[in-house]
Amino acid sequence: MLDHGAAPPVDDTNVTTARKTTGLSALTRRKPVEALVAEGGQGEGGSLRRSLTMWQLTMISIGATLGTGIFVVLGEATPLAGPAVAISFVIAGLTALFSALSYAELAGSIPVSGSSYSYAYATMGELIAWVCGWCLVLEYGVSVAAVAVGWGEYLNELLDGTIGVTIPDAVSAPLGEGGFINLPALVVVLLAMVFLMGGAKESARINTIMVAVKIVTLLLFIGIGFMGIKAGNYAPLAPLGVTGISAAAATLFFSYIGFDAASTAGEEAKNPKRDLPRAIMLSLLIVTVLYCLVALVAVGAMPWQDFEGTEAALAQIMKDVTGQSFWGVVLAAGAVVAIASVVFAVLYGQTRILFAMSRDGLAPKVFAKVDAKTGAPRANTVIVSLFCGGLAAFIPLGELANATSIGTLFAFALVNVAVVVLRYTRPEMNRTFKVMLFPVTPILGFLFCGYMMFSLPAITWMWFGGWMIAGLVFYFLYGMRRSRLATAPAVAEAPAEK
Ligand code: ALA
Repeated sequence: MLDHGAAPPVDDTNVTTARKTTGLSALTRRKPVEALVAEGGQGEGGSLRRSLTMWQLTMISIGATLGTGIFVVLGEATPLAGPAVAISFVIAGLTALFSALSYAELAGSIPVSGSSYSYAYATMGELIAWVCGWCLVLEYGVSVAAVAVGWGEYLNELLDGTIGVTIPDAVSAPLGEGGFINLPALVVVLLAMVFLMGGAKESARINTIMVAVKIVTLLLFIGIGFMGIKAGNYAPLAPLGVTGISAAAATLFFSYIGFDAASTAGEEAKNPKRDLPRAIMLSLLIVTVLYCLVALVAVGAMPWQDFEGTEAALAQIMKDVTGQSFWGVVLAAGAVVAIASVVFAVLYGQTRILFAMSRDGLAPKVFAKVDAKTGAPRANTVIVSLFCGGLAAFIPLGELANATSIGTLFAFALVNVAVVVLRYTRPEMNRTFKVMLFPVTPILGFLFCGYMMFSLPAITWMWFGGWMIAGLVFYFLYGMRRSRLATAPAVAEAPAEK
């Protein structure tokens, strides 16, 4: 019973339907979909609670997605594409859409909390699942730190606009960037940690409020900015040609990262099979429409050349159109909430992915410990928050932050493969959502992800290579032996798979 906090320890009988394997064949052992679903919610000493509605799941995905990308990266991408930056948003959105369709099908078929890690475990085996989970730490854990750093910058902007004070560099930048510690970044992660300790229901409530604030802020921007549109600003539409449009699209892909966050809440959703696919698709639709409208208004209200070197472009446009600095401050306040909500929702996702990996034996047991009173994985939340907070406070993220994109794209690519594999190995499975134009859509999704990965600079690939080697070492020394598929007492064949 998932509605009660107290639950028996994880029951190994569920995994006994998996083939017990040793040696190199361990690398391809798969966890049957039925086993993944059957043990949904179970943790060490308690279980997660099913409390999230479709609406709250959608808010979790929007919470994790809409933030730094639209408030900061749009300003950096516009000089690359000119007014056609709105088209770049559509192209980046298409890349996200192909993968979102695959996510939606898998989330409806395997409604658990491990997101693409669990999908890979059911379809491509343990090693690839581990690699995928390890990449998700880049998508979620490292990006929390990167986004938290951006939050500190907007906080300074807000403080400057309201009380004329900014936090000194010494305590708002890490070593190597003119300071000792980035305190604002650390503080926002720790605040998110405190709220997450209350459990999924409480977290979803806080997340919904923050998402409402950021959507209202962007609607306000669209409404006010619309009055400042000058038709002449749209011509020429694409001064830097197709190359500029695609360069901007690659940069803007960052703004779509996070739509998959609902898939980390599978074990806390009331009706995951029905609601997860809907939440993923709905959040992507809402975010894409908002992005395109904001971009169209922004380049209509300010000549595209003026975006170069303007740090808070949206705030600047609000000030210019109204002639009052008050509106710039309102936008900065909205951005502070928006970016904080990304930290919050992404941190939530990271804790749930580690929860799933820990329950499978691939990560230490402590990550699957559930507090019986709140139904929250509290120890997990504290460890993940300290790790992300430490990164945000002391590491100049620079290239490491770029690694977020490559890790995400890799995980997305695997999801597109997983959807194809599951269609062929388990054609009879009940799917509440099916990718249309199969297999063209997942193949396109895979190719788009590959193309974007190869557009990233060599240094990012080096970081990624180092990260993967560290992950493989950890797997061979730890996960491979401790995997519950290796330690489960009874052995049986996996369900009929072609
Ligand atoms: N998509 C997230 C953001 O834009 C990472 O902040």
